[in-house]
Amino acid sequence: MLEVSHLSKRFGSKSAVKNVSFQVNQGDSFGLLGPNGAGKSTTISMITGLVSPDEGEISIDGKTMRKHPKYLKRRIGLVPQTIALYGMLNARENLEFWGTVYGISGAKLKDNVAWCLKVAGLEENSKQLVKKYSGGMQRRLNIAVGMIHRPEILIMDEPTVGIDPQSRNHILETVKDLSITVIYTSHYMEEVQFLCERLAIMDHGQVIAYGDLDDVRHLAGTLATITMEVHGELKPVISELQQDLTLKQVQVNGNTLVLQSTNAATAVSKAVMVMSRHGIQPVKIDVEEPNLETAFLHLTGRQLRDGQDGVSP
Ligand SMILES: Nc1ncnc2c1ncn2[C@@H]1O[C@H](COP(=O)(O)OP(=O)(O)O)[C@@H](O)[C@H]1O
Ligand SMILES: [Mg+2]
Repeated sequence: MLEVSHLSKRFGSKSAVKNVSFQVNQGDSFGLLGPNGAGKSTTISMITGLVSPDEGEISIDGKTMRKHPKYLKRRIGLVPQTIALYGMLNARENLEFWGTVYGISGAKLKDNVAWCLKVAGLEENSKQLVKKYSGGMQRRLNIAVGMIHRPEILIMDEPTVGIDPQSRNHILETVKDLSITVIYTSHYMEEVQFLCERLAIMDHGQVIAYGDLDDVRHLAGTLATITMEVHGELKPVISELQQDLTLKQVQVNGNTLVLQSTNAATAVSKAVMVMSRHGIQPVKIDVEEPNLETAFLHLTGRQLRDGQDGVSP
């Protein structure tokens, strides 16, 4: 549906985006994951037509931004990283204002406003001045404003930065339930793992990994690490566990057993079975599946959170 091909953008001597390409399928939630300064917002600005690329092209269903900017802009909604709302207006008035900017009026505007208030969970607070809203409520209204013209593709730029966990969960659940195409940028790998079927990881302006969530997650390998703390003597069970070829790296450290396996659930049940035969009780079990953080570490040698690049967090 949306195709981004060979986008590049420089700001003076700074190369913010370098030869970025990806495709977003209709109905997908597509993640753009990367540390601060990776080039996510610059990429988004080019897709929404706010910044023109030095090189490359953006198209929806074959129509390019260069030739059909209005067609593309009508199909895209943007939820910017910074909140863009009028504090002196209430939620309904903010939505009406932005709807009018898109040329919507009458019954359609009324319907769209009602739909947006419902999606944002703000129906009961629609008459309250926005400056009295909590940070989380403002974030939710900011998202609703991005959808006032009922776009086919909603682009959200780090919509959960700086808000409380409860509002964050509400936003994540709302986005998960949306039946439209979403491009979601974040530097939180948990959010992208929760929401997105496909993703691109960006670093220093470039796409360093791209594809289905599971394929990218497994870039550093497919083994889950299982750590089990036990009551009892582990020595007698080690050799038995080591004979099981589906369990790799069986190690004992005091009263802690560490295993690796491609299937964490089976590995845990096997280990528990062998232990119970020797009268050993597990008291704590911890499973770490391969994730986007381990993939990023594998690709860059850095943690996702390290890459500040001079931008304040
Ligand atoms: N308007 C601008 N002028 C100069 N440099 C910019 C501008 N916008 C972004 N940059 C630089 O481009 C790089 C990418 O920024 P950005 O796209 O905002 O990254 P992200 O959204 O992933 O944090 C950063 O190094 C940033 O400082
Ligand atoms: Mg950004």
